[in-house]
Amino acid sequence: MTLYDTVNDADARTLLSGMEVSFAGVSKRFGGEAGTLALTDVDLDIREGEFVAVVGPSGCGKSTLLRLAAGLEPVSSGAVAVRTNSIGFIFQEATLLPWRKVRRNVELSAELAGVDRRTRRDRVERAIRAVGLADFANKLPSQLSGGMRMRVSLARALSLQPRLMLLDEPFGALDEMTRLNMQEELLRLYRDNAFTALFITHSVSEAVFLASRVVVMSARPGRIHEVIDVDLPYPRERELRFEPAFTHLVSRISRSLKEAA
Ligand SMILES: Nc1ncnc2c1ncn2[C@@H]1O[C@H](COP(=O)(O)OP(=O)(O)OP(=O)(O)O)[C@@H](O)[C@H]1O
Ligand SMILES: [Mg+2]
Repeated sequence: MTLYDTVNDADARTLLSGMEVSFAGVSKRFGGEAGTLALTDVDLDIREGEFVAVVGPSGCGKSTLLRLAAGLEPVSSGAVAVRTNSIGFIFQEATLLPWRKVRRNVELSAELAGVDRRTRRDRVERAIRAVGLADFANKLPSQLSGGMRMRVSLARALSLQPRLMLLDEPFGALDEMTRLNMQEELLRLYRDNAFTALFITHSVSEAVFLASRVVVMSARPGRIHEVIDVDLPYPRERELRFEPAFTHLVSRISRSLKEAA
């Protein structure tokens, strides 16, 4: 069990009680008393294996929420408890080392995590195949398209075999077709690897397509405006987007987002 900030072991166990991630009364202020209040009164429990998407206006604290979950920032008050220290973090930009070939970029996280060489190589090859880049393992990032670079980033996180995947608008910079493909790929990986996911996005339809619950946040200081269940079974196919249940949820969440802003 990994704990952050204001909780001790016993408190964390109570907080988590079967949850993978638990935010309890979390506030985050940057830069002292007169600083920016980024998040306030956030309560959110994420069950093991759940896929939770977060939408909200720019600057409402979505990235901050993710950074708190990863333990990259301390909370100002309240508590965050996370049951695992096996965390994959995917940033909005692919953040690859330009001088390392695809294979060596994918290997980086496992290398830094101290995974032994043989296990690492094994996992890296599997992750590269999983994201469909087997033919590009010896290319440099500059020889790839934006979508392929993002897939390298995904493979790098996967090679850690994380229990918890934190994704910060990973597909924001992709064209529409590539984005739809990446969403399907991510759902395949989710099915095959059984991780818990917390996924930030500005796209309501992306949130509905991927998630089992969508958290709508309100403008700064960010708080949770509403949490909406996405009662659509997995596996999900592209055609789901044309179904009334899907479009209904998209309008419902878009309305909620408008209220929240
Ligand atoms: N390290 C920091 N120091 C000071 N202020 C910060 C820091 N990080 C974030 N903030 C502030 O906290 C607020 C929330 O930022 P955050 O990046 O979490 O928003 P966001 O919802 O991810 O926005 P976007 O949708 O544009 O990515 C913003 O007002 C931002 O200026
Ligand atoms: Mg952000």
